[in-house]
Amino acid sequence: MSILFSPLEIKEIEIKNRCWVSPMCQYSSEDGFVNDWHLVHLGTRAVGGAGLVMTEAAAISPEGRISPNDLGIWKDDHIEGLKKITKFLKLQNCISAIQIAHSGRKGSTKRPWEDGYSVDKKNGGWDVIAPSSIPFDGKSSTPKELSKNEINELIIKFADAAKRAELAGFECIEIHMAHGYLAHEFLSPISNKRTDEYGNNLKGRMKFPLDVIKEIRKIVSDKVILLVRISATDYVENGWDLDQSIEFCKELKELGVDLIDCSSGGSSPLQKLNPKPNYQVPFSAEIKKEVGIKTGAVGLITNSHQAEEILKANLADVIFLGREFLRNPYWPLKAKKDLDGETGAPDQYIRSF
Ligand SMILES: Cc1cc2nc3c(=O)[nH]c(=O)nc-3n(C[C@H](O)[C@H](O)[C@H](O)COP(=O)(O)O)c2cc1C
Repeated sequence: MSILFSPLEIKEIEIKNRCWVSPMCQYSSEDGFVNDWHLVHLGTRAVGGAGLVMTEAAAISPEGRISPNDLGIWKDDHIEGLKKITKFLKLQNCISAIQIAHSGRKGSTKRPWEDGYSVDKKNGGWDVIAPSSIPFDGKSSTPKELSKNEINELIIKFADAAKRAELAGFECIEIHMAHGYLAHEFLSPISNKRTDEYGNNLKGRMKFPLDVIKEIRKIVSDKVILLVRISATDYVENGWDLDQSIEFCKELKELGVDLIDCSSGGSSPLQKLNPKPNYQVPFSAEIKKEVGIKTGAVGLITNSHQAEEILKANLADVIFLGREFLRNPYWPLKAKKDLDGETGAPDQYIRSF
């Protein structure tokens, strides 16, 4: 059997294969609620054979959304709708995962397919916050610098959101600490110019994200698989880089994080980045080797043999696919046929493969 389709055990949970759905915003919620779009979108990828299906970024507060139409998990009322999704995924023998996030200074924007950039308050926008009062770029709103009290409140909001995710039946929770959103803004010297204990040096810049994980670990059951998505580098001189990522991941491992989802970039418009197939795999490989933690590779991985080669070379433990899963929700069924000669398709679909 291929490695891609061999099971992976994390804690007491067996995940049937190693091709997982990467988190992808759908910008289709009202007041943070899931609806039929989310059930069909995520459910289809579970029917398509993914071992784990992750929701898009779910915001810990209304101000933690990217657009007013983001998914949310800031109130108990959100749990019921999410339960419908976790229940359906379980019936497909698929692990349900949710990404939990705060957008920080990159929030209050329109949906990508709409014209323009920031949303004004009349149209559902809000004032953005960040570790320091520095806008992302010339078109972005200037964020308000967080006070220590506000930082403490955000740590609790992350943990409460994670608890709600557990109550909704998610077996895996990923904390979004990548792509220039709030946690990454604390990590990166580009966006964090604080001089208190939440900034100043690497230890200080890591404090907020690590406090978030500590608080989550206090109130979420140990059985829940905990992932962190990082941007392994800012691709900017004197920014966040792979060496700092390795130090950060060592701390995450100590706190009981199970796997690092290795992405990159997003914290500066000056980033020098030329995405090509496997471009983020070296980050996964290096973190896996240096930290001794499970890793996921993501980014322009589209072919079954390409995915299998990454796993065979021990450069990652799992493969996240993003856009390829939007193009083809049944990618794993065909990939399994390519690699193992059989599909593992649901009974209802067997006659088509
Ligand atoms: C429509 C869309 C929405 C995305 N939303 C998120 C998100 O909510 N959280 C996140 O961490 N990454 C998000 N991403 C990034 C993807 O998860 C993935 O890392 C990226 O697309 C690279 O992988 P790919 O080449 O397989 O698409 C999004 C990407 C796309 C295309």
